[in-house]
Amino acid sequence: MYASMKEMLLHAHKNNYAVMAINCVNMEQAKAIIQSAEEERSAVIINISPRQMKAHGHGDILAPMIRNMAEKVSVPVAFNLDHGTAMEDIVKAMQYGFSSVMIDASGCDFEENVRRTALVASLAHSQGRSCEAELGHVGLASQSDNDKVDLFTNVAQAKEFVEKTGCDCLAVAIGTAHGKYPEGFVPKLDFERLRELKEELKMPLVLHGGSGAGEENIRRVVACGINKINVCTDLFRHATNTAIQVLEKTPSIDYMDLCIEIQNAMKDFIKSYMRVIGSSGRYGFEKPEGQDLD
Ligand code: G3H
Ligand code: ZN
Repeated sequence: MYASMKEMLLHAHKNNYAVMAINCVNMEQAKAIIQSAEEERSAVIINISPRQMKAHGHGDILAPMIRNMAEKVSVPVAFNLDHGTAMEDIVKAMQYGFSSVMIDASGCDFEENVRRTALVASLAHSQGRSCEAELGHVGLASQSDNDKVDLFTNVAQAKEFVEKTGCDCLAVAIGTAHGKYPEGFVPKLDFERLRELKEELKMPLVLHGGSGAGEENIRRVVACGINKINVCTDLFRHATNTAIQVLEKTPSIDYMDLCIEIQNAMKDFIKSYMRVIGSSGRYGFEKPEGQDLD
C-alpha cells in the first residue's frame, strides 16, 4: 500500500525498531526495494533528492510508477522527497504525488529553520503528507567537520524546534555523515546525546548517512531510538560492484538479464539490512488479489 511515513514511523517508534529509507533513481531499484519489503513483511521508504531527480530519476515519472507498485503489495511504502531545500522542489514533489517530504533547512540558523519547517509541515499536513525536518547538520563524509560537536543536534533546541514546527520526524546529527568515509574509518557516534534526544522528544528520530556506519553502530542507534535510517551510497556501490562482477564473468550477458542480476543483488542487501534494524516481520502478508510485481 502507498502510505505516508507518519504511521509507519510511529509504529517503529512504539515498537523500538527502524525502517530503511533508500535512495532510488529507477524502476529496477524501486522493484528491488518494494519486493524486498513485501518479502520481509516490512515497511519501507523510497527516497529521492532534488539532485538525483535532476540527474536521472525524474520525480513526475517515478511518483506514479512507485505508487502503482506500492498498491500491488500489502506492506506500507512511502515515497519521500529527500533533503528538500528549495520551496519550489517541495511543492513540486507534492504535486507529483510524493507521500512525504523532507524540508532540510539545517544550513540556516535556528529561527529560519523553524520558520521554513513550520511552513512545510503545515502544507504537508493539509494534504495528508508527512514532514521530516533536520536540526543540527549532517555533513559530508569527505569533509573533516563531521565530528564537530557544534553541528550535532542540541537537545534543548530540539524540543523547542519540534513544538514550534510540528514536524513528524526529526533527523538528528550524532556523528554520521553522507557518502563514503576514508578506507577503514568507522564514525564514532554520540549515543548519549541520542538517548537524551529520544527521552526528551518521544517521537520518531532519523539517522542520515547510514552508509559505512558499521553494523554495530547501526544496531546501537536503533536500540537508542532511531526509527528511520537513510541509506544511499552503500546500496549504489553494491549495485555497481555487482555489475562489474557479472560483466567480468559474462561479458556477453543480455542487458535485461544484467538488470535482473543487479536487482536481485540489491534485494539481498536490503533484506539483510531490514533484519538488522528490526523492521522485518512487522506487517501481515495479505497480497492484494490479482496483483503481481514480478
Ligand atoms: O539522505 C540520504 C542519506 O542520508 C544517505 O547517506 O549515502 O551516506 O548512505 P549515505
Ligand atoms: Zn541525508
